[in-house]
Amino acid sequence: MNPTIAFIGGGNMAGALIHGLIEDGTDPGRILVAEPDPTRREQLAVRFGVRTTDDNQAAANEAEILVLAVKPQVLPQVAKALAPALAQNRPLCISIAAGIRHAALQRWLGEAVPLVRAMPNTPAMLQAGATGLYAPPTLAEEQREAAEHVLRAVGVVVWVEEESLMDAVTAVSGSGPAYFFLFMEAMEAAAVELGLPADTARLLVRQTAQGATRMALESELDLPDLRLGVTSPGGTTERAIATFEQGGLRDLVRQALEAARDRSRELSRELEAE
Ligand SMILES: NC(=O)c1ccc[n+]([C@@H]2O[C@H](COP(=O)([O-])OP(=O)(O)OC[C@H]3O[C@@H](n4cnc5c(N)ncnc54)[C@H](OP(=O)(O)O)[C@@H]3O)[C@@H](O)[C@H]2O)c1
Repeated sequence: MNPTIAFIGGGNMAGALIHGLIEDGTDPGRILVAEPDPTRREQLAVRFGVRTTDDNQAAANEAEILVLAVKPQVLPQVAKALAPALAQNRPLCISIAAGIRHAALQRWLGEAVPLVRAMPNTPAMLQAGATGLYAPPTLAEEQREAAEHVLRAVGVVVWVEEESLMDAVTAVSGSGPAYFFLFMEAMEAAAVELGLPADTARLLVRQTAQGATRMALESELDLPDLRLGVTSPGGTTERAIATFEQGGLRDLVRQALEAARDRSRELSRELEAE
């Protein structure tokens, strides 16, 4: 499989995907980026050796896979302008735009265009991303595999069967890195209040987060068992965990994720008004 992959928009997320694809063995000569900013085009060409253009239609004409990587606010206008080129060429389209649902995209791009909706997250920059994918059951298996191939270059990929679950994916993994940053921020501040120098607090908190994450990913134990493994009866961890539980941490997390999911639904309605 060596398709021509074109990107509409050459910003942060496109850069992460291109980096991952090239690391994964994709020939840079098979990657084309349509981007209005000449400085950004030059940067992408120099950094990755990919081809660039300022002409979205030309990219759509050449693409076998077309990744829509512009901001959601400009996507309606960009997608509608691509429709004539897509009607001719019919590449597999992958939208990474947050919040814009399949049906709206399909309406703008043209009903015959094969289309996958993806929700990646920022650790994609380090090829440590987590992406949710949705496509209707009518999409051919080989096109599902092609979409997976693109997003797997920057991390793990999961499919959801119902599109409404993309709002949950957005709340969990899309926004999720920020929740962990907030928790680490709070731990660093508390560590400094306990008297540790700031650089020591910073190192201990970040390395602990990384160590705990690796244990969670690599161990066969479930999270409660991993937690109990650190929690001796009558010990220090037990006291801290009891404080979190009494403060309602679990309920707060549930409320936060529900709020993010609800906001994702609201944004879809706002963005699709066109
Ligand atoms: N970053 C994330 O964490 C994340 C996570 C999940 C999904 N996403 C989605 O990924 C998409 C891109 O986000 P991003 O963070 O990569 O944004 P970004 O860095 O702003 O990239 C968007 C790029 O598209 C270019 N562009 C603007 N108008 C265009 C047009 N008419 N034709 C072609 N290119 C155009 C922009 O150029 P100018 O700067 O010159 O306008 C910019 O380089 C968004 O839809 C976002 O929802 C992002």
